[in-house]
Amino acid sequence: MHPIGLFDSGLGGLSVARVLFKRLPHEPLWVVGDTAHVPYGGRPLRQVRDFAMGLTQYLVDEGCRAVVMACNISSAVALEDARLRFAVPVFGMVEAGARAAAIAGESGPIGVLATAGTVESGAYTAAISALRPGASVLEIPCPRFVPLVESARWDSDEARCAASDYATPLVEAGVDTVILGCTHYPFLAKAIRAAFPYPIRLIDPADSVAADLENVLDLSPASGPPVHRFEATGDLKAFSEAGSTLLSYPFVAAHCPVWDAAAAGGHPLAASSR
Ligand code: DGL
Repeated sequence: MHPIGLFDSGLGGLSVARVLFKRLPHEPLWVVGDTAHVPYGGRPLRQVRDFAMGLTQYLVDEGCRAVVMACNISSAVALEDARLRFAVPVFGMVEAGARAAAIAGESGPIGVLATAGTVESGAYTAAISALRPGASVLEIPCPRFVPLVESARWDSDEARCAASDYATPLVEAGVDTVILGCTHYPFLAKAIRAAFPYPIRLIDPADSVAADLENVLDLSPASGPPVHRFEATGDLKAFSEAGSTLLSYPFVAAHCPVWDAAAAGGHPLAASSR
C-alpha cells in the first residue's frame, strides 16, 4: 500500500505520527520535517502557504496516497488550496481540533495555544464558531514553545516557565478546555497541564485527524510491520536523535530534496518562498 505523507516545520509532525502509529498501526508513513525553515510561526502567512503547497506537492509526487498537514499553521493557510489542487485526500489539524473541542466542551470558553501565525490567521476561532455559534474562544500565541521543543528542552524550567506565562490569561478566564493548536505542543503537555491550578481537558487534534483518516481511506491490511520513511530538509542528525526520543521509535532521517530544485532556481511552487 502507498504511504500516507505527513509534514511539519520540524519535530511537531512526530506528535501526529505517534498517534497514527497507535491508531493506524499497519499504515506506512512518509514523514518530512522542514527543519531548514523551522519555525514557521513567525513567518509571513503567504510564505508558510508556499512551503505547505511545496511539501504537499513533493509527497504527492513521491506517490503518497494521502497527505496530512501535521502542522496547524499550514492547515490554517493552505488546506483549502491544497484540496483544490491535489487529487489525493489532504487532511489538516484545525478543523479536526475545533471539532474535538466543540464536542468535548460544554458551553464555557475554549482556549487555543498556538503559534503567532495560527493565531493571526483566526482559523481556530472561525472553525469553532462555525460549529458552535457564539462560542467564546481565547487564542494565545506561544512563540517560546517551538524553539524549546526543537532544542530538546521539552522537560525544562524554561518550558514550565513559558507554559505558566501562556496559561495565565486562560486561568484568569476560567478556561478548562484547551486545544494544543501546534503539533509541537503535545510534547509540552506535562508542563502545560501543570500550569493550570485545576484539571483541564487538553485536546490534541491528532486524535480527530486519525479518525478522519480511518473514515476516508481504505486502510492497509495487517501484513507485518510497515516500513516508514523519515526525511528532513535541515540537520539530519538533530532531527533523527530528538525525533527518535520523542517518537520512542529509532529512525535515521534522509535528506528531503523538496527545496533543492528551488535552490537551483527550478521548483515552481517553492520559488516564491526563497
Ligand atoms: N508545528 C507547527 C504547527 O502546528 C509549526 C510550528 C512552527 O514551526 O512555528 O503550527
